[in-house]
Amino acid sequence: MTTPNSLEARDIAHLVHPYTDLRAHEAKGPLIITGGRGIWVEDAEGRRYIEGLAGLWCVALGFGEQRLIEAARRQMERIAYTHTFAHRSSEPVIMLAEKLVAMAPGALNRVFFVNSGSEAVDTAIKLAWYYNNARGKPEKKRIIARRRGYHGVTVAAGHLTGLAYARAGFDLPMRDRFLHLTPPSHYREGLPGESEEAFTDRLAFELETLIAAVGAETIAAFIAEPVMGAGGVIVPPADYFRKIQPILRRHDILMIADEVICGFGRTGNAWGSDTYGIEPDMVTCAKQLSSGYQPIAALLMTDAVFEVVAEQSAKLGVLGMGYTYGGHPVPAAVALRTLEIYEEDGTFAHVRRVSPRFLERLKALEQHPLVGEARGVGLLGGIELVRDKRTREQFDPALKLAAKVVENCAARGLLLRPLPGDVVGICPPLVISEDEIDDLFDRLAGALEDTSGALDRAA
Ligand SMILES: Cc1ncc(COP(=O)(O)O)c(C=O)c1O
Repeated sequence: MTTPNSLEARDIAHLVHPYTDLRAHEAKGPLIITGGRGIWVEDAEGRRYIEGLAGLWCVALGFGEQRLIEAARRQMERIAYTHTFAHRSSEPVIMLAEKLVAMAPGALNRVFFVNSGSEAVDTAIKLAWYYNNARGKPEKKRIIARRRGYHGVTVAAGHLTGLAYARAGFDLPMRDRFLHLTPPSHYREGLPGESEEAFTDRLAFELETLIAAVGAETIAAFIAEPVMGAGGVIVPPADYFRKIQPILRRHDILMIADEVICGFGRTGNAWGSDTYGIEPDMVTCAKQLSSGYQPIAALLMTDAVFEVVAEQSAKLGVLGMGYTYGGHPVPAAVALRTLEIYEEDGTFAHVRRVSPRFLERLKALEQHPLVGEARGVGLLGGIELVRDKRTREQFDPALKLAAKVVENCAARGLLLRPLPGDVVGICPPLVISEDEIDDLFDRLAGALEDTSGALDRAA
């Protein structure tokens, strides 16, 4: 049997790790996860942790869910691979499309399957361009996103992601097609004394001003996560999207809701769009679509968008895009079973039931001297660390304080993730119980104490 240490050496020798300083990784080595049950995972040395970020915001049903394992096994036995190119199809893909449409917000009646959130966003961008070419509006191509938004890292989606780390060192050649606005963080972006209402009015005005400056005839779409996840868990003011959406409609700009994190119950409703009154023309979803058990993502679009796309494909003779694994029957079968389980088990209602405890324990962390703001919705939360609570001054980024808190959490058996802006993200599996929520926050509160203790000693 391989010992954990030799596994570590082999990881360092061969694996290129995303989201690390690769040299620092060589010095530190990996945390090798070998098993999991429910909200818990185990490492190669037998230590147990609460998976407080549900992997990467995805394992909604927890680990070891036999009904999903069985769905994958059954589908592999029947037909392990087929595709949806050129008139082919398969049962799980058809049934999954039907189920997604039935639960989708608004009039989203068409589904295109891909493998990842980034691919779903890339597909949304390409179809928005295709759509406007088809409508004889070839100049209408710009996409508006927000700073701190996360939409993936492929070449096109990477242009939309408004975070420095996703840009530095990479050429992003299509800059003039992608524009970024202020994120709806009242805490960080609000002016002194500015009410939340005045703040959202200002953001709506910023959008109007941008449209006037570059011309609505050059703008195809606006993309937004209902709640920003990877950029620092930014929960928008309740009326933010209600002010933004009419402006988009007025200027014939598509609204793309990036539901890759918020979709499937995370905010307490099926979609973040339901929680915030968004009526999207397109939706990207992934992650909790299969509870992270298989890679699968989707782009949903309205009939109105689809009809234009279909007409253009008839003119050109083909819709010239698709992926080998885009309509893979095994991830589709697992995703279909995932959506069935959400219904059978009442998972979204469970989120609404336990969310008050989650938010109460989250909010209580604002009492801690290091926590400037604790914010959340449903079972999604973030704490923003500050040097001075009154002025909201941040720590020197070189200190990497959020990463230190996350390290201290790991030492206490809790896995979380540091996010830009000195934020610690919290996003447990949706099946977490109230007792487990208490356990999670006890560990996090302890880790905050450990961190401030270390800061005091260093001072
Ligand atoms: C909102 C959002 N969109 C898109 C993506 C990209 O998804 P993927 O990593 O599957 O490409 C992510 C990933 O975290 C995300 O959070």
